[in-house]
Amino acid sequence: MRTLRDLAVGRRPLVASIVWLALLGAVLPARAQDDGKLRIGVLLPLTGPFASTGKQMDSAIRLFMAQNGDSVAGRRIELVVKDDSGNPDIARRLAQELIVNDKVHALAGFGLTPLAMAVAPLATQAKMPLVVMGAATSSVTEASPFVVRSSFTVPQVVTVLADWAVKNNIRRVVSLVTDYAPGVDSERYFSQRFTAAGGHVIEALRVPLRSPDFAPFLQKVRDGKPDALFAFVPAGQGAALMKQFTERGLDKAGIQLIAEGSVTDDDIVNTMGDVALGVVTTHHYSASHNSPTNKAFVDAFVKANPGMRPNFMAVGAYDGMRLIVEAARKTRGAGGEAMVEAMKGQAFESPRGPISIDAATRDIVHNVYVRRVERSGGQLWNAEFETVRDLKDPGKSR
Ligand code: PHB
Repeated sequence: MRTLRDLAVGRRPLVASIVWLALLGAVLPARAQDDGKLRIGVLLPLTGPFASTGKQMDSAIRLFMAQNGDSVAGRRIELVVKDDSGNPDIARRLAQELIVNDKVHALAGFGLTPLAMAVAPLATQAKMPLVVMGAATSSVTEASPFVVRSSFTVPQVVTVLADWAVKNNIRRVVSLVTDYAPGVDSERYFSQRFTAAGGHVIEALRVPLRSPDFAPFLQKVRDGKPDALFAFVPAGQGAALMKQFTERGLDKAGIQLIAEGSVTDDDIVNTMGDVALGVVTTHHYSASHNSPTNKAFVDAFVKANPGMRPNFMAVGAYDGMRLIVEAARKTRGAGGEAMVEAMKGQAFESPRGPISIDAATRDIVHNVYVRRVERSGGQLWNAEFETVRDLKDPGKSR
């Protein structure tokens, strides 16, 4: 006999998805069953090319649980963690299983935009909060009224970088971004802001998401003789970009590297060597952020995960857990739409600085910092030197 799950994850994904969506309504009352638990379904890229992101997020979620206990509003918190390996089709199938079989009350994780986009329609259908802890394309929160974001948005950070570049006499730039949604956002929002202030983007290059070879693109950059290269690549890929930047002699040719902060993410910046010194980036989190909350977070993270340094993916996951648990406390574990409502307007001190959830857009509001890679205590850090406070996503005011 074919089960509901067989129908949901059968060989013909489109047909199966339609059948699944139709049947989901019938099983929703079962999901609401109250066994005194709060189940959180967590989808992370724990294997594959984005495994460093999954590992950071997983470590931070576990740290949050260890620090805050495993119950809220009289319910035991149960994490159901699954590996989507960075593949949107797998993420969709696993989300179906989490909703139908595991009967989770909320979905969380989403280290890449395509993963969040693949699952968002299921959250709408199941009326279930979907907390985006990693993905950063502006439109992610518009994919479902059940999406709440604890990570950041690419337009938030690249517009601040464009302003900094103009103020620092950078006039001619080549942009080089990964060819998928957040890369396209980076290219667009950087270019619009930079051009409006009198700068010129002389060439816009896009590299593939999977196994990118930066060398031919960097050769083109070198030939264009810009003042600076503006780059975006997702967390984990910056080290390869940096290596090839030097190998192609762009540093010697006097081309400055400015980048969206994922390029020098804290997971890898210390492995980059001297070539990274002086690279200017903008982002919402640096492990060297100078606050008591961050110092306590970094110390606890390093103690629990020797050899690792938390990056912005870890902080997005840590703060996302707090959003979920606070919402469950407020709603006494009601779940569903009430839980999303209870996340709107939440505000607290994060390791990154003060944050809040914009009640109108369900998107994150936080500081964006301009940072420079510096050596301190024998290690490389993203040292923050300017702050733009309480920034909303510029992508929402189109
Ligand atoms: C995304 O896919 O939205 C994403 C992933 C990694 C990043 C930034 C954005 O570093």
